[in-house]
Amino acid sequence: MQKRYGKIVGYGVFTPEQVVTNFDLEKQWDTSNDWIVQRSGIHERRFASADEPTHVLAAKAAESALEQAGLEATDLDLIIVGTCLTEYFTPSVACLVQAAIGANHIPAYDISAGCTGFIYSLSTAYQFIETGAFKRILVIGAENITRFLDKGDRSTAILFGDAAGAVIIEATDEPCGLHGFMLGSDGSDQDVIRMNTSSDRGNFDEGHYILFQGQRVFKFASRVLGKACNQALEHAGLTLDDVDWIIPHQANVRIIQSAARDMGISIDRFMINIDKYGNTSSASIPLALYEGLESGKIKPTDTVMMVAFGAGLTWGAAVLQLAPKPAEAALEPKTEIAVPAD
Ligand SMILES: CC(C)(COP(=O)(O)OP(=O)(O)OC[C@H]1O[C@@H](n2cnc3c(N)ncnc32)[C@H](O)[C@@H]1OP(=O)(O)O)[C@@H](O)C(=O)NCCC(=O)NCCS
Repeated sequence: MQKRYGKIVGYGVFTPEQVVTNFDLEKQWDTSNDWIVQRSGIHERRFASADEPTHVLAAKAAESALEQAGLEATDLDLIIVGTCLTEYFTPSVACLVQAAIGANHIPAYDISAGCTGFIYSLSTAYQFIETGAFKRILVIGAENITRFLDKGDRSTAILFGDAAGAVIIEATDEPCGLHGFMLGSDGSDQDVIRMNTSSDRGNFDEGHYILFQGQRVFKFASRVLGKACNQALEHAGLTLDDVDWIIPHQANVRIIQSAARDMGISIDRFMINIDKYGNTSSASIPLALYEGLESGKIKPTDTVMMVAFGAGLTWGAAVLQLAPKPAEAALEPKTEIAVPAD
């Protein structure tokens, strides 16, 4: 069977309208714009409204990706959503998206891997493309996380924002797509980032908040980012020189700076937009990819390295060429060199 590849034919995002700046937070908590900027790199984030649960954010990002691709929802074969803090234990966000966008009765499911959810979902999607099982897959990272913030805990509440991002991967015979990836987990560190369950949807009692040990996450993340990139590159048989952009999970700009130092490369090679959106968990990578592509920094045929870490603990990296390069222009025939006659 001919080898199959996957190209990204559409990408889209949805970010809620309400912008919450550090100055807004100063009015509510014992914090300051200076502290937040210096410790995290965040200037503002978006808060979803009460009528924007996770599946609504996800469906809006999906519609934006479909529009950008010039496709209908009925063109899709599979929906995978990376998400971890949803309104329902069941049904999945993916099933709610299937109904909201009017897709056929195709398979749809969520992957819960903390903030690594998008990379877990994307890597899974490419396996289905490469085996020939599915031709067009919608992959979403979506999180409505700010409902789960303990507004009394200034060290967690300042970090997060709500968003969703989506890509559509389509099968092609032209070489491109996932060159290599790695996924990891270590459940023995389950308490480092955690949210306990609530039996009463939407009514979160004390303790039903995101809890994390910031410095432990910080150290783990700084260590694992470079390591995950190296393992994905090794799997791909590539080096960092083959990568145009690194798109990291946006948890803290200092974690990205530390990873850049660790990898011995300039911070300028990383797509960073945490200043505008904060930590949007599974949505942060597709959101940064979208911004990179829209601004023209990332070219549609670039090779990018996506890398993330999150609750579980989980981590992962994927190195992929977004789409095939256009065929090389046919080489001009060599001009004959006229040999002067004697
Ligand atoms: C959360 C995080 C920004 C805190 O930064 P930090 O440099 O580790 O800061 P610390 O927690 O050591 O706190 C330093 C001081 O600032 C104070 N502080 C904490 N939050 C504050 C805030 N929002 N405003 C002002 N001061 C704050 C602390 O109380 C502490 O004061 P003290 O020295 O008097 O005890 C950082 O650890 C981090 O980004 N961690 C990883 C993020 C993460 O876990 N993400 C979730 C999973 S992806």
